[in-house]
Amino acid sequence: KVPYVLTGKSYTAVAINAAAKAGEWIKSRVGTHGQLSTKTSAQDLVTEIDKGAEQMIRRLILTHFPDHAILGEESVEPGEEASIRALAETEGEEYLWIIDPIDGTTNFVHGFPFYSVSIALAHKGEVIIGVIYDPSRDEMFVAEKGKGAYVHGARMGVSGEERLAQGLIAVGFPADPVVKLPINLRGIGALAPRVRSLRAGGSAALHLAHVAAGRLSGYWEAGLNAWDIAAGALLVAESGGKVSDTLGHAYHLGVRNIVATNGDLHAELLTVLKEADATGV
Ligand code: IPD
Ligand code: CA
Ligand code: CA
Ligand code: CA
Repeated sequence: KVPYVLTGKSYTAVAINAAAKAGEWIKSRVGTHGQLSTKTSAQDLVTEIDKGAEQMIRRLILTHFPDHAILGEESVEPGEEASIRALAETEGEEYLWIIDPIDGTTNFVHGFPFYSVSIALAHKGEVIIGVIYDPSRDEMFVAEKGKGAYVHGARMGVSGEERLAQGLIAVGFPADPVVKLPINLRGIGALAPRVRSLRAGGSAALHLAHVAAGRLSGYWEAGLNAWDIAAGALLVAESGGKVSDTLGHAYHLGVRNIVATNGDLHAELLTVLKEADATGV
């Protein structure tokens, strides 16, 4: 493995070091996560470690780049409306860091080793750096706009399946049982008989990283937030995959219904979601 801790103060080095530091601390706190609270529903969890990890990452970024803006999940009021507002208020900033301190909090709480730290940097609304760290496997996924995507220094590329029927596709069960979950269940029902198999790991960011690494053929979920997707969208694009919303429009920071694939399966996946009324729009 190529060491992932870079020296220096480049944006990428700061993102990698922040993700590594936070990730190590998060992993050390599995089983001792302190107070467990809920947000918008009984399924929407947050712990003291989510909040502590976000503070740690914020401090590290601001030490190097004090005039940059930061959008982090645990500093935004819970719920869709507040997240949309928080993005609208920050996406015009010249440099905006977008942080999901623990993506996969439910897994972290249960000790299921599939959670990640996701850090993206956007310049004038366009993601230029995406870093996702998986502490359980010690895998650091890094993409820089125009420079490809890497896992521990090894270049990544998407998988080669050409048809949906050959695809291993990841899906999600959002923590909003009233509006978002039924949309996703319709898509899951329609996809299950038409793919090789479905997986639901419980971390949007890691699903995207695994699409980028060619270990999943695609991933789709309706009802996400900018911090779930921003870093992973760049990883997939820089690995040669395709990223859009569920209607096929190109990815931008405001996309909440994400489809990310190796490219070849993309159109077929979009068609199934449309037929199943699972686009979320
Ligand atoms: C969640 C995870 C999960 C997805 C949810 C997200 P969180 O993020 O990515 O896989 O299904 O929609 O909200 O709350 O664990 O950071
Ligand atoms: Ca959350
Ligand atoms: Ca998340
Ligand atoms: Ca989170």
